[in-house]
Parts: sequence; structure tokens; C-alpha cells
Amino acid sequence: MTTPNAWSDRFDETLHPAIARFNASIGFDIELIEYDLTGSVAHARMLARTGIISAEEGERLVQGLEQIRQEYRAGNFNPGIDQEDVHFAVERRLTELAGDAGKKLHTARSRNDQVGTDIRLYLRAQIDQIREALRVYQEALLSLAQENVETLIPGYTHLQRAQPISLAHHLLAYFQMARRDWQRLGEIRARVNISPLGSGALAGTTFPIDRHFSAELLGFEGVYNNSLDGVSDRDFAIEFLGAASLIMVHLSRLSEEMILWASQEFSFITLTDRCATGSSIMPQKKNPDVPELIRGKSGRVIGHLQSLLVLMKGLPLAYNKDLQEDKEALFDAVKTVLASLEAMTILLTEGIRFRPERLASAVAEDFSNATDVADYLAGKGVPFREAYNLVGKAVKTSLGAGKLLKDLTLEEWRTLHPAFEADIYEAITPRQVVAARNSYGGTGFDQVRQALTAAEAELGQGQ
Ligand code: ARG
Repeated sequence: MTTPNAWSDRFDETLHPAIARFNASIGFDIELIEYDLTGSVAHARMLARTGIISAEEGERLVQGLEQIRQEYRAGNFNPGIDQEDVHFAVERRLTELAGDAGKKLHTARSRNDQVGTDIRLYLRAQIDQIREALRVYQEALLSLAQENVETLIPGYTHLQRAQPISLAHHLLAYFQMARRDWQRLGEIRARVNISPLGSGALAGTTFPIDRHFSAELLGFEGVYNNSLDGVSDRDFAIEFLGAASLIMVHLSRLSEEMILWASQEFSFITLTDRCATGSSIMPQKKNPDVPELIRGKSGRVIGHLQSLLVLMKGLPLAYNKDLQEDKEALFDAVKTVLASLEAMTILLTEGIRFRPERLASAVAEDFSNATDVADYLAGKGVPFREAYNLVGKAVKTSLGAGKLLKDLTLEEWRTLHPAFEADIYEAITPRQVVAARNSYGGTGFDQVRQALTAAEAELGQGQ
């Protein structure tokens, strides 16, 4: 803590140690180091190209920065709290390595445009990774769906059995959510991929920089048009957290279903030993810890979105130190989303086993074919609302008699309405009930097969 402050001789005293710790971000922003080095290399090249520094100085800077990269990767660059943040830590090491040239790196730049550049580079790379992980998760959903086109499962509304559906159809609903997540991140990536570098502290710079050149070196698609906006915009981070929150919401919903399905009351799946845990006291238990954790972790990511919105809402232009608080939220959201996607993918591939016998009896032993009886009558010309009321009566009578609709005799059906014929029995088997919902996007087997083909094509399978 005896190291002089990184800033100018305007200061006579060093920071109070507790304040130094409070102020420092090096404990977490070291995560940005690779992006910081890459950003600085581009800045150094731009300075040399525009003649702001000599070509030779530019070269020394680039070499020094690459050496720091090697040191970091080898585990030999571990700046302490006295370095305040990753940007100062790199600059100081660079000055040790490149002498006076090192001191020129920060010409025409501020940590404000620098840190903005770093998080954009970081986020761009993480978005690409998350989109990859989403694809792997989609593959897992798809292959489970491919195996279960004809497996029937109760479909619910209000968590009451509603109509039976194909299990593949159910799984493909999650495939669609993941598909939107993948697209959404692609759209956000375009807004992340804009360079603030060269905005300076807030107002631009007196040097003849070339912002487009450094942006191009870094693979940015464009540059911020306003320097104040460039250093203080975090919309892209909020959008990212919004997309991350939605991914977690989707994973959490699937987790909730798995938790229900694994309960004794449902018993639709069993959890494999590879992915379930035991209780420390109740020997009979097998707990769905993994989906529970995913469900729980969704709260963290949603919380980070909330943090960043609140962080931004009162900030006057331009940079304010509050913005240092954006990082841990982003880092944790990225890690949580990646870990949750991976865990869910493993659950789908080897963590759960559907129980066909339980599913078969679940779809056979209820009144979830009632709509089909009404549709049957409506198909014979009875107005749907009238048919609906008749079937309501049939359900009531059956319930009273301890029967299901399939147990009613043809006479009983006929007393209800003369349009009933013997084919009513076939029309209300679970299989037929599912097969008949052949409207576009429905659960009918033909529709589900078409949806699978589209999903396969999207993932580049079967070509
Ligand atoms: N560690 C700071 C952050 O994360 C870097 C920028 C500091 N800028 C400043 N003007 N103090 O935001």
C-alpha cells in the first residue's frame, strides 16, 4: 500500500488503505485482462499509424503488451490491490517492460473509453459462447424429441390436465424458446459491437486519432457517434442481461417441470444417479438438486438485470464511478447462464428417464378427451357451444358413476345426442386425440414431424 498513487503529482498523500480497497476493482476486473490487452494493442497501432507516436514506439508497445499476455497466461502476472484496476496494472507493467514508450500508451485515451471497449469486447466473446451453448442445448432437446414423437403426456393449463399431447411437442416448445434466445443474442451482439474507443474521458481528444482504424482492428462494426454516449452507454449490457434473464426464465420453467415430473405425485420421470443427489437423513430420497439450482440461479441473473437498470437510472452524463459496478453483474450473469445451460443439457441427455407406463396411464385415465367429444359432435353439425354443454353433462354423469368417457355405452351416448355412432370410441383414444390436432403448429404427429424436420434443418442436421 506504499506504492504511489497511479495518478498525478497533484496528490501529496496516498489513499487510506481501506479506501484503496473500497475503490479498487482489480479483484474482479482482472477478468477483462485479455480484452484490455487486445484493446491496447489496437490503440497503440492506431497511435503509430496516425504518427502520434513513432512506428518504433508502437512496436515496443505491442511487444510489451503481448509479453504481459504471456505472463498472465503463465500465471506470472498477479497485480495486487495497490494497482487499483486492470488498466493501471497493465500500464504500469508495460512501463517496466517498454520504458518511456510504455508511458505513451495512454495518449489520446482515458480509462473511460478503455473500460467501455473492454466490456464490449468481453461481452461480444461471451455472447458467442452462450449462443454456442444454446445450440448444444437445442441439440439435446431435439434428440429427446426425436425419440418421443409418439410418446404421449398430459398437457396442462392451470396445472389441470387439459388435453394429451406428444412429448416431442412439449420439448419442442422449449426448443422454440431457445431459438428466440439465440436470435435475440445475435441482435444484441450487433449493438454490443460498436467502438467507444477514442471518446476519451468524455469529449473526444485533441490528437488526430483515427477511431475507425482502431475499431476495425478490433472487429467492431462501427463507432459511437457521440463521445459522451460512448463512455457512458450501458444499454448494450442491460439488453444482454435482459436476454440472459430470459434464457434463465426458460431454463427455470423447464426445471420446474422436471421437479414436478420427478415427484411421486407425477412420477413421469426418474432421475438418474449421475444427476441426482441423496438426502443426509432420509435414505429413500433422490433429490432434483440440479433443476432446483437452475431455478434458483435464475433469480440471480434477473437480479443483475435489476441492478444495472437501477445503477443507470440516475446517472448524469458522462462517466461516473458507479459504472464500475456493472462488471460483477455481467461476469456473474455470463457464468451463471453458461453453467446452467451446460447442466440442463446434461440433464436432458443423461439425467432423466421418462416412464412410458406412467405416461400412458396418465393420458388414459382422465377426462382430457372431453374436447374431442365436443369436436366430434361439432363435426356432425351440432353447434360447438351446444356440444360443449352436452359433454359437460356427460362428464358429470360419468364422474357420478365412477366411469371415464370411454366407458360410456353407445346407448348412454345416444341418450345424450342421437348423432353419436360407434366411431366415438376411436375418436377419443389418447392417440387419436393427439393425432387429430393436425392444425399448423399443433401436436398432431404429422405436425410434430414437420416441426422436427424444421428444427433439424435449423441445427444443420440431416443435410
Ligand atoms: N475501474 C474503472 C471502472 O471499472 C475504470 C474506469 C475508471 N475511470 C475513472 N474516471 N475513474 O469503471
